[in-house]
Amino acid sequence: MKIVYEEDKRVDDMSQKINIGIIGFGTIGSSVAKLLLGKRKLFRDRTGIDLNLSLICDKDLRSKRDVKVPRKMLTKDVNKIIYGPDIDVVVELIGGVHPAKEIVIKSLESGKHVVTANKLLLAMHGEEIFKKAEMLDRHILFEASVAGGVPIIKSIREGMISNTFYSIMGILNGTSNYILTQMSREGSSFKAALKEAQSKGYAESNPSFDIKGLDSAHKLAILSYLGFGKRVKMKDIYAEGIENISPVDIEYAKDLGYTIKLLAIAKREGKELTAKVHPALLPNHYLLSSVSGVYNAIFIEADLVGKQLFYGQGAGKQPTSSAILSDIMDISHSILYGRKSGKVVTSKRVEIKNIKKMDEIITRYYLHFSAIDRPGVLANIADILGDYGISIASVVQKERREEHVVPIVMLTHDAKEKNMQMALKRINKLAAIKRKTVLIRLEK
Ligand code: HSE
Repeated sequence: MKIVYEEDKRVDDMSQKINIGIIGFGTIGSSVAKLLLGKRKLFRDRTGIDLNLSLICDKDLRSKRDVKVPRKMLTKDVNKIIYGPDIDVVVELIGGVHPAKEIVIKSLESGKHVVTANKLLLAMHGEEIFKKAEMLDRHILFEASVAGGVPIIKSIREGMISNTFYSIMGILNGTSNYILTQMSREGSSFKAALKEAQSKGYAESNPSFDIKGLDSAHKLAILSYLGFGKRVKMKDIYAEGIENISPVDIEYAKDLGYTIKLLAIAKREGKELTAKVHPALLPNHYLLSSVSGVYNAIFIEADLVGKQLFYGQGAGKQPTSSAILSDIMDISHSILYGRKSGKVVTSKRVEIKNIKKMDEIITRYYLHFSAIDRPGVLANIADILGDYGISIASVVQKERREEHVVPIVMLTHDAKEKNMQMALKRINKLAAIKRKTVLIRLEK
């Protein structure tokens, strides 16, 4: 169904007005502006609150946007929003760390409440920003920073407030999921699928953030902070992307009954937390395995709710705008009805003491060796794995071409990452191994 948004210019004296300033008039900024103008009546009718878009700031006011706004609503001067006497809520949509950080801090200091979609900023400086907001009794909301339109942050912070979380595991990057899906379904090349994702507006301005697993890691840092009360630094999150996943591995995994997904995983064992992002083989019957295209999903295990799956569009201007508008409305309620800002995480919350080192993690592995088809090669590989206590669950040679390179695909039982890496180092040096062995972890 196509909805046509028209600006509603009527003034309703009964409703209470909240003035909004948007900083960043890009894809998301113009979508939020369009919806603030076009759905103004809907917001007023539903809540009695009049969301008034006062000012939009961007360096570039010339490019054509998808929304028409009066010239007087536009400025290049960010201070007009940060220090604008009438502005109640600043919506930061420029992305990146600088000057977004300064804009957010100055806005809070000048008494504004802030909505941001900036996962990178929050992953790097969230704690400092949240403390600032708390000290100044200002609200800062960031629903759009993780999983686009899926209200996962509100669900963790409010809907599941009484739970102790065991694990939060998700497909958090729409671009990577889109690429893997296109490779698997259409046989597209990695490059072509990435190009498509970029043209649809899913990818970050620097797409290496998407494909190297960094965007997922930023989002995982935010979810870990909320779910486990632990500020996980980026250097403590192991991040590996999908660049080395090839269509043949997707096919071999399929033959074995698995789907390859880029997963962001935060899991606790006692007071220790594992936080990692990497491609993983998931059994086909898992719900997460059927999450395809730009969709995101977050699978949560917690003591009271048990297992829960959240699913929806994780990128794209409309779902992201939906999350931003929800934050704006939430803050407006608080301003008008006198709710204090509250803490994101209190300093008393010490559920997690340390982050598990990647080397110590125990998991199963998929290995794809490119080996010369010759008697004794497999025995060599098995010997080395045996030296490190790694037990083989199954093995299949995919082709038969004597004295030529053939793919040998193996699944192992549980093994320690450190042992696996040491074993592979030795295996990759064997004369019969002709390409770097592909390693993909299995997730249970
Ligand atoms: N580049 C991100 C993604 C956009 O692909 O998921 C939403 O954060």
